Amino acid sequence: MIKIGLLGCGTVGSGVVLLLQENRAAIEAKTGSEVVLSKVLERDRQKCRQLGIADNMIVDSIDEIINDESIDIVVELIGGIEPALSFITAAMEKGKHVVTANKDLIAEHGEEVFTAAARNGVDFYFEASVGGGIPIIYPLKQSLAGNKIQEVIGILNGTTNYILTKMSQEGRDFGEVLREAQQLGYAESDPTADIGGLDAARKIAILSSIAFNSRVTLDDVYVEGITSITAKDILYALELGFVIKLLAIAKETEGKIQARVHPAFLPAGHPLASVNGVFNAVFVRGNAVGEVMHFGRGAGQMPTASAVVGDIIEIGRNMAFQTITRIGCTCYEEKEILPIGELRAQYYVRMNVTDRPGVLAGIAGVFGANQVSIASVIQKSSSAEKAELKLITHTVKEKYLQDSLQTLKGMDIVAQINNVIRLEGVEE
Ligand code: NAP
Ligand code: HSE
Repeated sequence: MIKIGLLGCGTVGSGVVLLLQENRAAIEAKTGSEVVLSKVLERDRQKCRQLGIADNMIVDSIDEIINDESIDIVVELIGGIEPALSFITAAMEKGKHVVTANKDLIAEHGEEVFTAAARNGVDFYFEASVGGGIPIIYPLKQSLAGNKIQEVIGILNGTTNYILTKMSQEGRDFGEVLREAQQLGYAESDPTADIGGLDAARKIAILSSIAFNSRVTLDDVYVEGITSITAKDILYALELGFVIKLLAIAKETEGKIQARVHPAFLPAGHPLASVNGVFNAVFVRGNAVGEVMHFGRGAGQMPTASAVVGDIIEIGRNMAFQTITRIGCTCYEEKEILPIGELRAQYYVRMNVTDRPGVLAGIAGVFGANQVSIASVIQKSSSAEKAELKLITHTVKEKYLQDSLQTLKGMDIVAQINNVIRLEGVEE
């Protein structure tokens, strides 16, 4: 019998309880043992009772789980950094295997947890931490291990993908769609981490570390959210054959890792362009496999529980052979992170300018002096003397583009730089 100590019986925790019940026989067949819930640490006992968990299984202190020698696997689903980190490491010190969905913890303290797992000879699995129900961590570590991974590009946040999809399909502005998403329960009441890109940044930190075998933490990820995206930008993108997506991008170029989250113009024909609504997807390019895309539900009670229970089963299989995973921490190299200023990309720039002879030449002159070459320009005059310019640059180092924008901001012919958005998935 394999005994589980569950920490947190909220959205995902309750899904795990339900799935262990619903698929009990199949899980037993796959692990060769009965997998039973033994104890649950949860502040709100009512949440457990609603799932039929007996009162004597609900505990108030982590000690009751970590000091229970009969418990084999601790499943951490309380979220956040502390006390989750202390709980996980304490469980490992007591020889318990750990499963978690906690991206915040892994993106910031992954090394500490992997070290504790290795020191104590226990398993540590975290498939649900990225992409909810989408298998991506194990495939990267195992099925794609024969490749040199060149890039991992994800739509890793359902809230922002829902908002951008609605804005795109209905021509509405960000604030209005966000409010609606909150009313419908698609966006959290505090959506800061989602719309600010932080949630996706944590996830791409985890994927970068695995893809490039070198530790990438949240602090290494360049982050921009979607709050500055307007219906106008989306419309212009569509006119030019692009969609705007919040992308989490990890690439290795010349031995350096790029890890960044930002809205991007993505060609309408790119496989990620048709990933809409709350769905997530991860596009991987490897030197042998070519392009692979993983698609599905990146969050939610049962999709996330699917990944957690998959990890429990994997540990159960290891236990059956009295072994632990042969794939522990995969960060055996130390690679530099490419600063965002060194990124080479194409850019979309939208700005309000004065509409009179010589203005376009003046702007082009600033770009030219900073080695920024313009690929296309569209100008719309909104009134006498005022125009909106939308231009796309050729590939250029980001710091050169930023230098030119700095100069342009100080010129009286430029009323405002409205938005600057990187292009992704285009080859020049
Ligand atoms: P949740 O609904 O807030 O559930 C967490 C539960 O743990 C709550 O019932 C909470 O009680 C309880 N809890 C927190 N700290 C505790 C403590 N110290 N002692 C006892 N109970 C405690 O969160 P969730 O959405 O299930 O997320 C759990 C984890 O899964 C997080 O790491 C999250 O990032 C990750 N995840 C979630 C999803 C998703 O779709 N929800 C998807 C992928 C990954 P209170 O409510 O009283 O605080
Ligand atoms: N808040 C996340 C999202 C789900 O909107 O995708 C949890 O990772």
